[in-house]
Amino acid sequence: MFIIREANKSDISQLRQLFECSDSDHRSHVSRTVVVSDEQLENNGFSNDNTNKWQFRTLVAQLNDNNSDYYRQHSLIGYVIYSNGYSMSRGKSILIEDLYVLDEYTNKLDTGASDGGGVGQAFLSAVAKHAVTSGITCMELSCFGWDDHLISLFKSLGIIDETIEMSYHRFGITGEPMKQLANSVIDNNGDNEKFKSTFTVQNATVEDRYAIRDLFKKFAEFNNRDPETVVSVEQIDRDGFGERQVFWTVILRHNTSRQIVGFALYYPTFTSFNGRGVCMEYLYVCPEFRGSGAGRALMASVVNESANNGQCNYFRWGCFMRFTDTVAFYKRIGAIDWTETKNVHNFVIYDNDLIQLSQL
Ligand SMILES: CC(C)(COP(=O)(O)OP(=O)(O)OC[C@H]1O[C@@H](n2cnc3c(N)ncnc32)[C@H](O)[C@@H]1OP(=O)(O)O)[C@@H](O)C(=O)NCCC(=O)NCCS
Repeated sequence: MFIIREANKSDISQLRQLFECSDSDHRSHVSRTVVVSDEQLENNGFSNDNTNKWQFRTLVAQLNDNNSDYYRQHSLIGYVIYSNGYSMSRGKSILIEDLYVLDEYTNKLDTGASDGGGVGQAFLSAVAKHAVTSGITCMELSCFGWDDHLISLFKSLGIIDETIEMSYHRFGITGEPMKQLANSVIDNNGDNEKFKSTFTVQNATVEDRYAIRDLFKKFAEFNNRDPETVVSVEQIDRDGFGERQVFWTVILRHNTSRQIVGFALYYPTFTSFNGRGVCMEYLYVCPEFRGSGAGRALMASVVNESANNGQCNYFRWGCFMRFTDTVAFYKRIGAIDWTETKNVHNFVIYDNDLIQLSQL
């Protein structure tokens, strides 16, 4: 009844219609409007420009029932948008930013396999297949806490609700507060000069890969994880500085010792309703240098680079609520807990569960 295929440029106008439908479905719960132009879609989703780090992939579900009236005007009934994320223990991951199936097809096709399997499940399985064949072991998704249908689909497929299971919240910042953060590199005495004479915040270069690995280990320890499980220097070299770069790193250098004493790791994301965004996966400042504006400066640098140079519309990250000091820091710099305010949940599927999903 339907096929899943890679989207191409000629799908853009139908995709836009689907974005509008997705938007109106959500409107009773969250206020949002599609801000993405056809040009942005084309440039980020369907061009071969390898210098554009916001590239994403889209799969569409297309009816192959030629007799349907609907087919002639709207043969696309859903889409999934995804790109790469990064984990310091697993390397590349897949990040699903958007998953949508038209309401009339959701209820008919997502609920069981009697009519050949649901569209939502088929999308998730197709993306999982892409992950598994690329050697990726982790797929991340998000969904609103009120979306019972999607949540029960996720559950049935072994996808874990990290927000419920581990109290992992999604934080973010947009609009004017994001611009303010981008321009705020001052320590907590308001002394910009003092901060600048002590630290330099800069984009990492490949020479920093050993120091980055050491900081990954420190972050792992902070997070009660085995520091020896972090990715190798070779992986950092390839994924952080290679031709197919997946993550970007901003470092904090101590001017006197020249040591790297903090970092922020981030990667680009793209959603149908917000366009370009940035996800910060890790932020870390060595304990002895905390409290002098370094954490804020690292985040400011990520957002400055992305918001001003990359024309990003949002900046987001996640945090376990048990890190109460970190949550207080995020709130202090103007971030919003999107789990609290918008009911955003974070989902994840790993290893064998991902393989099983890819085989459905
Ligand atoms: C979170 C972290 C990066 C913050 O870095 P930092 O250099 O200590 O923070 P800053 O000095 O930039 O603080 C910025 C503002 O937040 C405030 N702040 C920092 N920690 C705070 C806390 N625990 N409670 C309340 N406010 C806090 C500072 O006072 C400062 O406020 P002001 O300048 O507006 O007066 C750092 O503490 C860290 O590396 N923690 C361990 C790793 C971690 O939690 N990473 C994030 C995982 S999700």
